[in-house]
Amino acid sequence: MSGQDKVWIFDTTLRDGEQALRASLSHKQKIQLAHAIARLNVDVMEVGFPVSSPGDFESVHSIATQVKGPIICGLARAVSADIEACGQALANAERRRIHTFIATSPLHLQYKLRRTLEQATEQAVAAIQLARRYTDDVEFSCEDAGRTPIDDLCRIVEAAIKAGARTINIPDTVGYTIPNEFARIITDLRNKVPNIDQAILSVHCHNDLGLAVANSISAVQAGARQIECTVNGIGERAGNCSLEEVAMIIKTRPDILPFYTDIKSTEIYRSSHLVSQICHMPIQPNKAIVGENAFAHSSGIHQDGVLKAQNTYEIMSPEQVGIRQNELNLTSRSGRAVIQHRLSEMGYTSEDYNLDEIYKAFVTLADQKGRVFDYDLEALVFFQNLQDTNEPYKLEFLSSSTHTGHVASATVGISINGQTHTEAATGNGPVEASFQAIQRIVGTDVKMVDFNLQAKGSGEDALGQVDIIAEHQGRRYHGAGLATDIVRSSVLAYVHVLNLIERSKQVDAAKQARRLSESQTEK
Ligand code: KIV
Ligand code: ZN
Repeated sequence: MSGQDKVWIFDTTLRDGEQALRASLSHKQKIQLAHAIARLNVDVMEVGFPVSSPGDFESVHSIATQVKGPIICGLARAVSADIEACGQALANAERRRIHTFIATSPLHLQYKLRRTLEQATEQAVAAIQLARRYTDDVEFSCEDAGRTPIDDLCRIVEAAIKAGARTINIPDTVGYTIPNEFARIITDLRNKVPNIDQAILSVHCHNDLGLAVANSISAVQAGARQIECTVNGIGERAGNCSLEEVAMIIKTRPDILPFYTDIKSTEIYRSSHLVSQICHMPIQPNKAIVGENAFAHSSGIHQDGVLKAQNTYEIMSPEQVGIRQNELNLTSRSGRAVIQHRLSEMGYTSEDYNLDEIYKAFVTLADQKGRVFDYDLEALVFFQNLQDTNEPYKLEFLSSSTHTGHVASATVGISINGQTHTEAATGNGPVEASFQAIQRIVGTDVKMVDFNLQAKGSGEDALGQVDIIAEHQGRRYHGAGLATDIVRSSVLAYVHVLNLIERSKQVDAAKQARRLSESQTEK
């Protein structure tokens, strides 16, 4: 196949996906996800909106410095401050892209921007020219293009290309169009914009009517060569186009879609689960490609067919998307080298974990469970990456009891910067009693917004993962805890939240100090 047949995959999990989460990701979590997305071999990854907050700027800067392979992209409105912040945040990237946008639909122009199309076009041209001072790779998006009259769209696209945009992105921002209508927009742009051959046409579809993937594929058939998407389709409202679905559609139907992507499909399952865990966004069991049931055959007729010939009921294999059978037989007698070997077979490199720490956690778990499965190891790596070794709050001990017909009680010991504090409390259940005890120790006003318990793996001895969303001074935090005992998992999740609150206080204090010193320098 020629370069003409390649469909570029532009991942925006860390920008459009992240902006829709109930609790924003920590710096460390963003870096961890960025590495996983790079392993998928996407062409471009949009990793944040640098001007939106100092935290976002820092994350984009760190990812641009550390993550190699894909082009690293930042988002900027068509205003100088955004473009400058974006250019600075991306300065260390091997290859960088600035993605700037302005709304073009009559609705957005009239009510949101209070501008004419001509004014918006002038603003876009100036922004693109400024962005070109930082990089040759500038992408321009017409926000709400799906509801923009085609002649208006053609006019602004022509001006954007003339100003130096090398990718023109057509977002269906509100997920309003249907496939043949959206494909028609692409066809019209290709036929009506005189300089269109100087840019790659890209699409960015939202899923409000469940058509984001269908619209993106139709657009490729009409000539688009970049799809913007997110892992698991996370994103604003009903989400974005799902990366794993478009990648597997293109891979599975070359007869109808003579295109290819460079996505490493065997990385799909792992990155999908990582995004789900870190973002606290469960995957529905019947989700295409990555759902728990995506390759499960329930009816006898189907099972019989698959045993005789796999392709009777399977159009792709679980192995193609990186689903492995859970190999067993890791016990507390397994050595460090075996664990390292198993993790490398599972796709983890030594940079992804600290072997000493993982081995220690593995032995403890193997003593509790007898046998340790792949999903257990995966969970240990995930949780190791969640914790920082020098966190101020640590769980030292926990004891809880329940008696039918009586209140539950718990005693919890938490060390704060090395000093242990103990409290006891009662509650309707052992989790509530433990939380009350922690509340007494820390005295911080933390309000639980959501509590979710999930078994990791199968069987009575499965690890229990607890995810909580908690609110403190108007900000939301996502804490997670993992243990064989679910009261312990709950307490660990609470302690995780306390550490996140502490970290954000430190970030705020540093920000304030920086502002103060800047204002003193100005004087
Ligand atoms: O949905 C949208 O229009 C966007 C743009 C910023 C590309 O996310
Ligand atoms: Zn979007």
